[in-house]
Amino acid sequence: MKAVVYRRYGGSEVLKYEDIERPVPGQGQVVVKVAATSFNPVDAGIRGGYLSEVYAVRFPHVPGVDVAGTIFQVGDGVQGWEVGDAVVGMLPLDANGAAAEYVVAPADALTTAPTSGELADSAALPTAGLTAWQALFEVASLRAGQTILINGAGGAVGGYAVQLAKEAGAVVTATASARSADRLRNYGADRIIDYIDYGATPLVSAGAVFDVVLNLVSTSAEEAAVLVGLVGDGGFYVGTMAAGQDDPKRRVRAQRIFVRSDAVQLAGLVNRVDDGQLSIDVADRRPLSEAAAVHDDSDANRLPGKTILVPRSVE
Ligand SMILES: NC(=O)c1ccc[n+]([C@@H]2O[C@H](COP(=O)([O-])OP(=O)(O)OC[C@H]3O[C@@H](n4cnc5c(N)ncnc54)[C@H](OP(=O)(O)O)[C@@H]3O)[C@@H](O)[C@H]2O)c1
Repeated sequence: MKAVVYRRYGGSEVLKYEDIERPVPGQGQVVVKVAATSFNPVDAGIRGGYLSEVYAVRFPHVPGVDVAGTIFQVGDGVQGWEVGDAVVGMLPLDANGAAAEYVVAPADALTTAPTSGELADSAALPTAGLTAWQALFEVASLRAGQTILINGAGGAVGGYAVQLAKEAGAVVTATASARSADRLRNYGADRIIDYIDYGATPLVSAGAVFDVVLNLVSTSAEEAAVLVGLVGDGGFYVGTMAAGQDDPKRRVRAQRIFVRSDAVQLAGLVNRVDDGQLSIDVADRRPLSEAAAVHDDSDANRLPGKTILVPRSVE
């Protein structure tokens, strides 16, 4: 089968598009025929070796943490899945991923794919959607009537976070550039502001206060401290990239989130997609053979938004 493979950490040049053996399922596993994977920034982080202490991959490694596809083969001890079932899932970050025509997946990491929309496009949901869900509701316990600042709302996680926060009844302020503003407005964002200029932005100087600040942008410790300062007494700062410091005097808690695969939560997100409550935004669909170019575009901040990678067999 065709797959994207790398044998050492490095720039996008380490990614090769090659023929490798189709995997076989072990106990509790299935093989999924991949309709698409999606590019996540963590794929580039792992490829570059920046996360090797957290996710130690074995070489040769196939990237691609998100999968959408159909069950191709069922391993021993698996119940509930049959060949042909359409599924989505977030795969273990240290195992071989779905940038391939077939991937092995733990059966319990998968959930039934949305029935609305293209199966391949649902590869844009798992990791980003789960990150948004876990940050908002597991960490920050966001409730109706609360105010939230979502910094970096124009990205994949931010798009889901805006929609889920609005559904929960929160009042949402989103930072985004012009290219994402209309989409976020359609998602119900109450207020959209430009990227934060940490020294000068009116938001900071006006001493705006939010119950929750969700920071999806890579920020320095000083910038994270400014964001923690925007959290009201007793509130929460959650960062996907930058940890902030608790402020015990004001009972402000700060936490960095590490997303985990959760098929039950993912099923909840899929239901929302099928109910029309949650939109999956796919900005670009590229052939799997262009994985290295997609990583390059990400490294150079040229990606137009959430990008899925589609194997040749389903192009
Ligand atoms: N810790 C975890 O478990 C975890 C899980 C998932 C993601 N992450 C991390 O969280 C971050 C977001 O992930 P993602 O998948 O949403 O990434 P993404 O889709 O690549 O997000 C890129 C978007 O970030 C926005 N952005 C860039 N610089 C900004 C700035 N200075 N201020 C405001 N917005 C800015 C841009 O939005 P505009 O279009 O508005 O310009 C851009 O489209 C990534 O760094 C990722 O690595 C961490």
